[in-house]
Parts: sequence; C-alpha cells; structure tokens
Amino acid sequence: MRIVVLTGAGISAESGVPTFRDADGLWEGHRVEDVATPEAFAWQPELVHAFYDLRRAALATVEPNPAHRALARLEEHLGDDLTLVTQNIDDLHERAGSRDVVHMHGELRSALCTTCGARSPHTASLADEPPCPGCATPTLRPDVVWFGEVPYELGRIERALETADRFVSIGTSGAVYPAAGFVQVARAAGARTLELNLEPSEGTDFFHEARHGRAGELVPAWVDQVLEDTLAGR
Ligand code: APR
Repeated sequence: MRIVVLTGAGISAESGVPTFRDADGLWEGHRVEDVATPEAFAWQPELVHAFYDLRRAALATVEPNPAHRALARLEEHLGDDLTLVTQNIDDLHERAGSRDVVHMHGELRSALCTTCGARSPHTASLADEPPCPGCATPTLRPDVVWFGEVPYELGRIERALETADRFVSIGTSGAVYPAAGFVQVARAAGARTLELNLEPSEGTDFFHEARHGRAGELVPAWVDQVLEDTLAGR
C-alpha cells in the first residue's frame, strides 16, 4: 500500500497557526503579494524579514495536534511506502515525530543564501543580516518558496504520485498550483483519492471521496482505518 499525503495550512490550524486564506483575504493582516513574492523582498526586505521572523518566533508557542501525530504513527507503520508532502513551512510534522517530510514550499527554520545558494538550519532572526554559514556573506533570505518560484522536490513528488495506491489531501484550499493538481496526477495514475478538509476545497470534485470536518478528528480516524485495512490485507 503506497500512500501520498499532501497537507496544507488546515492541518496546523487547530495548533494555532493561522491559515493563509481567511475570510478577509489577508494573511495575518498583509496582502500575500506584499510579503510572499521575490518582488516584495526586493522592494521591502525589512517588512518581509519582520513578517517571517515573527512567524518563526511564533513556532515556539504552538504544538503539534492529533492530526500531525496520526501521520507520524502512519509513517511508523508504512515507512517508505508513505510520502508525506507538506505545503506548510512550520515544523509541526517533525515535532510530532514524522522523520521524512517533503517541505515543497520550504521551511521557516531554514535560511537560503542568495549568494551561494546554500540552505542552512536557522532559528534566529534574519532581519539583522547574519552571515551565511557557507560563504560568510550576509545575504540570507527566508527559505520559503514565494509566488512565482519553483517548489522543492517536484521530481520526487511526481514519482511518488505516479506509483501511489492512495492520495490524500488534508487541510488545503486547493487554490495554489502545482499542489492543487496532485490529485489529478495521482488519480490518472490509478490511485484512490480522498479529501479531508474543513469544507469542500476548490478541487473537491476531483476526488473519489471527500470527508469534511476538523483535521484533528478526521485524520486520526482515517489513519486507524488505513492501519486496520493494512493488517487485514485489504
Ligand atoms: N481542519 C481541516 N481543514 C481546515 C481546518 C481544520 N481545523 N481549518 C481550516 N481548514 C481548511 C480551510 O477550510 C482551507 O480550505 O484548510 C484550508 C487552508 O487553506 P489555505 O489557507 O489556502 O492554505 P493552503 O491550501 O495550505 O495554502 C497553499 O498558498 O499562500 C500559499 O505557499 C502558501 O503553502 C501555501 C499555499
């Protein structure tokens, strides 16, 4: 049983991490294009650094929830047969115990050097322009994939989607590509597809099945069901 799980901001909502697309269309009070584009960083690096510095610091105030922990439990049983892809830049999957997480949109606790291209673990502020641990140049930016940039590890993700028996999308609005198109790739390759989200996503009709409710309830129940099926050889 090979499973690909895609998670989005909704899985971390019950931990207290704000989602992107709130009712007012703002992301923590900012228009997304003011903080999450290379152009924004070129024009207003102080604002962009301050925004991501705050989000990085806020990680210390949140904890993984039962949905993150259930996916860590699934990895314990399935090992490499589970590919966990997240659009989230928080570290809640890892803190719940997941060991192999594909962060396709980068990570808050990582910095990217615009001079040498090195990615390095980073937990402090970037606003005060620390030197890159690789080349010593003070040109670190958040290691986050902004609008207009290419997500990480698309080759690995595509290979996993093409050999998956099941594809499950959790807590994502289905508004941002390429992640929003993974369901169609997996389905075309023969996978059974399932959406677990608070409400129907933009792509809900692409899935064989959709269950709507809170991730903290839906995900542990789904993992229990998968593990029962696996034990019973179904
Ligand atoms: N349980 C399950 N789903 C939830 C919960 C919850 N407790 N709370 C909210 N949701 C759902 C919302 O209904 C919404 O459909 O999670 C989804 C979150 O959608 P977005 O805020 O759009 O987040 P996401 O899909 O991860 O955004 C994708 O957009 O801005 C970019 O790079 C950023 O990775 C991000 C990408």
